[in-house]
Amino acid sequence: MKYRVLQRLREGSPDYVSGEALSNELNVSRTAVWKYINELKSEGYIIASSSRKGYRLDDSADVVNADEIRYNLSTKMLGREIHYFSSIDSTNTYAKKIANDGCSDGTAVIADIQSSGRGRLGRAWSSPGGKGIWMSVVLRPLISPADVQVITLAASIAVVKAVRRTTGIVAGIKWPNDIILGGRKVCGILTEMSCEMDRINFIVIGIGLNVNQELYDFPEELREMAVSLKMHSSEGPAGEGKDNMKINHKRSGIIRAIFEELEQVYKEINKKESSRILEEWKSFSVTIGREICISSADESFTGTAVGITHEGKLIIRSNGGITREISSGEVSVRGMLGYI
Ligand code: BTN
Repeated sequence: MKYRVLQRLREGSPDYVSGEALSNELNVSRTAVWKYINELKSEGYIIASSSRKGYRLDDSADVVNADEIRYNLSTKMLGREIHYFSSIDSTNTYAKKIANDGCSDGTAVIADIQSSGRGRLGRAWSSPGGKGIWMSVVLRPLISPADVQVITLAASIAVVKAVRRTTGIVAGIKWPNDIILGGRKVCGILTEMSCEMDRINFIVIGIGLNVNQELYDFPEELREMAVSLKMHSSEGPAGEGKDNMKINHKRSGIIRAIFEELEQVYKEINKKESSRILEEWKSFSVTIGREICISSADESFTGTAVGITHEGKLIIRSNGGITREISSGEVSVRGMLGYI
């Protein structure tokens, strides 16, 4: 019922909706309306009340919950089933559990806080409350396990396009799927898979997008390397008067856009039309054409990133002219994230 009150306020916005109209239309008492309004306010909605005019929804609040995300969502399957938690250990861990139990293709797990957010290569992922998008999506693609890297690349394209569409901010992608703004990392993607020899059971794509953090919300050791969309919007040459840009971005709208963009690329992957995805990935890449150092558990070497294979491997030409294809490891791009 609370969300029916919300829906009616959305329809009425930017005007007031009277308490009497709400009570009559939803067939509940005026006191019950008042109780639902208070519950919505405690979830973070900003609702103005006037004894004469009623209630008015201010849509500038950054509220994240399943109802808010589904509002005006245009996807067919992505994000149609949402498991939302105000706090969880890791959305990827939970997503793997429900994927094993048989949840449907496109199910999403979203949390406001992660107490043990996980990053690539066994690292921790800082996931404070009210600041970022911490979510995992379960996919059941019709491709061979050897081609799974393409999904990872596709997820990074979906995030870059969703961020551009909802905030106007244009980010780049460092192979395989770190999203970079002004040389610092704004988003990381952790892909985990369950498969047999020739078929994928499921893939969990975990997306960690820094949205509304200030510099001091990051642990000290990350402050030189990490950035949020909000920090990026408010940064710029001194005196440009960008203080008014210090706004909180609305996470639900960005999540919705990620679902929509991800569904598009996912369709192409299932139709085995990955070549366009690889071309698009290259257009966002901040790795191709750059001097890089790649390090894995047993070796590290430098060279120039010259391209990407149809399975999503990075092609590197060493200074001695030897060409190699890399499917995993940590890439440092010269001039970015502290690599000089
Ligand atoms: C990276 O190291 O770049 C990947 C970071 C991935 C973080 C996200 S946040 C949501 C999901 N749940 C996790 O525990 N990790 C991923």
